[in-house]
Formats: sequence, C-alpha cells, structure tokens
Amino acid sequence: MKITLKIWRQTSPATKGQFKTYTLGHVSPDMSFLEMLDVLNQDLIKKGEEPVTFDHDCREGICGVCSLYINGRPHGPLQTTTCQLHMRTFSDGETITIEPWRATAFPIIKDLMVDRSAFDRIQQAGGFISVNTGGVPDANEIPISKKIADEAMDAAQCIGCGACVAACKNASAMLFVSAKVSQFALLPQGKPERKERVEKMVAQMDAEGFGACTNTRACEAECPKGIKITNIARMNREYFSAMVSSYEVAAGDGGAG
Ligand code: FES
Repeated sequence: MKITLKIWRQTSPATKGQFKTYTLGHVSPDMSFLEMLDVLNQDLIKKGEEPVTFDHDCREGICGVCSLYINGRPHGPLQTTTCQLHMRTFSDGETITIEPWRATAFPIIKDLMVDRSAFDRIQQAGGFISVNTGGVPDANEIPISKKIADEAMDAAQCIGCGACVAACKNASAMLFVSAKVSQFALLPQGKPERKERVEKMVAQMDAEGFGACTNTRACEAECPKGIKITNIARMNREYFSAMVSSYEVAAGDGGAG
C-alpha cells in the first residue's frame, strides 16, 4: 500500500506545531498502525531526520497509552485502541491525518505525545479502596450477585486512554471518572469510602480543567472498551447523594431522612 501521512509535529510544549506530510510506499495491510509509524520512523532516522514521538507500551489493547487522533477520530475509524488498528482498515493511496489528543487538561509534550497525568491525579484522589492486608479471604466470603459483579467488571474495563476526553466537544472526563467511581461504588468493598471517593475525584476532575458533560454520547461511541454512559448517571447519583449527606451533617441533623 502507498500511504500519505499528515502528522502533527511540535518540538516542545511551548513551541508552535504544524502538520508535516510524509509518504510511505511499502506499507503492508497486515501491519498495525503503530508498526506503520515504526517504519516511518526508521525511514526518518535513516535520512537523519527527527523521528515522530508517539506513546505506546503494551501494543495489546490493555495499557491505554497509544493515544492518537486519526482522521478526526480518537484511535481512528474502528472502536478499538490505536495499537489494535491495522492498515487494512485504510485504502491504498489514502491520506491519513494524525493528531495528538486535543484537550487543555492533556498538554502536548512533543509531536503526538500528550501529558495525561491529570488522569493519574484523579485516580490518586479516590480511585482506590482501603483494606487491611493479610491472609487471602475466601472467594465467596462476600456474596455479590452476578448482575452487580458484571456491571462492576464492565466499568473496570476502562483503560484510561483518554479517548472519551478527545472525542468530547467539551473535553469532559466524565466517562473515565464515572467508570472508576462505578467499579467501586457497585461493590461492597467500595461502599465504606463511596462518599469521599466521588467528592474527591469529581473535585480533582474539575481542578484539572476538564469540561462538563452535555450528553452528546460521543465518548461512549468512541470508547475502545465500550464503557457506557449509564456510569455517568450512576456517578451523578453518587455525587448528589454525597453532597446531600455532607449538607445534612453540616446542618447538624446527622443525615436523618
Ligand atoms: S499500546 Fe497499550 S493499549 Fe495500545
């Protein structure tokens, strides 16, 4: 396949970026998208030019690091991660435009690599449970219905890639945060800290500069792991309930009613 690439090049966070055009004449349809970029970088290095910087790690659709905006969509034309996208998805002779995630809360580091540590800070704010470590508990010590277990596992599939933010016109992180809130809020192990968790994670999300959700569902349409916006509804309920509880405590009625 012959492919023309229009790639965003930017040498540092402070410098102005621009698109540069490259042509590859020997692309196999069986290459993954990242392997195609590897070939481009080999060519650039041979020519003494600066290779294109892009994030990647597992290349198995697990880590969520491979964040590329391809032809106007996060991770490209299929609902999968960039590393699981193959060149056979594109046509011979096609021009492919590759940009980094665009969001104020994800500043560009270089070329196609952005700083997504805002997600780490949201996780650190409350995306965990506190337990005493010790012996391994019996598997069925805490009974959990299949429906609840399935819903929690569905939410836990979020790999934190940031496609939801990149897809959203408001650069909202609600799908990501709600998945992280839901996976614990649904399970008994997550209940003791549910109030503080949602309050702290939402506060950190706002502090990082992510936008609000206006229910366009673009995040759900692009999420490579199929995370549903029902998680956002659950997070809103969790947040409202936590706020009411905090208000009642502050008002001195102890949360009665
Ligand atoms: S490189 Fe890990 S999900 Fe793509």
